[in-house]
Amino acid sequence: MVWTEVGSMTSRAQHGQDEPLHVPVLAREVVDFLRGLPSELQTGWVVDGTLGMGGHTEHLLDALPALNVLGVDQDEQALGHARTRLERFARRVRLRQGRISELARLVRKERIGLPAAFLFDLGVSSLQLDEATRGFSFQQDGPLDMRMDRRRARTAAEIVNHWDESDLADLFYYEGEERHSRAIARAIVAARTRAPFLRTLALADLVARTLGGGHQKIHPATRVFQALRRAVNEEGDELLEGLAAARHWLAAGGRLVVISFHSLEDVEVKRALADGARAGAWRLLTKKPVSAARDEQRANPRSRSARLRAAERLRGPGDEAPVEDESVEGGAP
Ligand SMILES: C[S@@+](CC[C@H](N)C(=O)[O-])C[C@H]1O[C@@H](n2cnc3c(N)ncnc32)[C@H](O)[C@@H]1O
Repeated sequence: MVWTEVGSMTSRAQHGQDEPLHVPVLAREVVDFLRGLPSELQTGWVVDGTLGMGGHTEHLLDALPALNVLGVDQDEQALGHARTRLERFARRVRLRQGRISELARLVRKERIGLPAAFLFDLGVSSLQLDEATRGFSFQQDGPLDMRMDRRRARTAAEIVNHWDESDLADLFYYEGEERHSRAIARAIVAARTRAPFLRTLALADLVARTLGGGHQKIHPATRVFQALRRAVNEEGDELLEGLAAARHWLAAGGRLVVISFHSLEDVEVKRALADGARAGAWRLLTKKPVSAARDEQRANPRSRSARLRAAERLRGPGDEAPVEDESVEGGAP
C-alpha cells in the first residue's frame, strides 16, 4: 500500500483562517490510548516525535489537562506553525527541532524524566505536500528537493542525477514497491545525460511516459516519489531508531502509539512490537492495526491509508529502566 497524494486539506482559503491546517488522523483514538495511562503518568510528558503542525498535540493537551508535551519535528517550517497553534498551552509544551533519531538525546537534555508516552505520526504533512517549493508533489512543479529537514545535504535531485541505474532501480523497488523499477531507472539514466532533473514535474512526466497510459488508481509517479522521499529523509532508519528509543525510555506503564501510512512502515512497527512482546517488554494494545472510522475517512481522504498500532511498556525483573539524572523532576517545568 502506498501514499496517494492528498495534500489539499491545508489551504487557507478552504479553512478561512490565517494558519494552514494539517487535519490530524485518528486523533480520537490517539487520545483514547493515552487516556488509559496509569494515574501516576497522567501528569507526565508525552514525546510527540512528529509534531508537524501540532494537531495531535493540541488534541492531547485539550483532552488530558494534566499532561505535558515535548513536541519534536525536523521541519522548522512545521514547528513555526505548531508554535502559533499551541500558544495557549505555552506552560505545558516544549517545541524543539530535531529528528526521531535524536529523541534519546533530547529526552535526556530536556530533563523530563522517563516519558509517559511516545507518539509517531509518520510520513509527510499536508503542509509539506501542498507547498510546491518543498518538492514533494508530483502534481505541482517545484524543485526536486523533498527534504523535511532542510539542513540535510542530500536532495531528491542528488539521488536522481547521481545514483547509478541499479541503485535507482533497487530504491524504487524496495522503498516504493514499484514493479517497473528497472524500466524507470533506465529511462532516468538515459534522460539525465541530456539534462539533469531539477524539477518535480519533469521527473513525474518521464515516469508517466515510461509507464504509458492505461487505467491506474494512483498517479504513475506515486511510488517513485515515495521511494525518493523515504531515501532523502532516511525514513526506514528513523522509524527503527524511534521504536528503539520508545522501548528504552518509556516509563513502566507508558504507551507507544504509531500511525503509519503504508505497508513498509506498518510491517516494521508490527515486527518491533511483536519482538518486544515476546521479550516481555511490550503489552500489545492493538492485535490488529486500527483504521480510521468511516466518518473520518469521508471527511479526510488522507486517513484512508492510516494504520495505528499501540503498546504499553512493561518492565520485568532484569529489564532495567534507564538511569535518570537524580536532579531531574518529572512533570511540568
Ligand atoms: C504526518 S505529519 C504529522 C502531523 C501532526 N501529527 C499533526 O497533527 O499536525 C509528519 C511530520 O513528521 C515530521 N517527521 C517525519 N519524519 C521525521 C523524523 N524522522 N524526525 C522528526 N520529524 C519527522 C515531518 O516533518 C512532518 O512534519
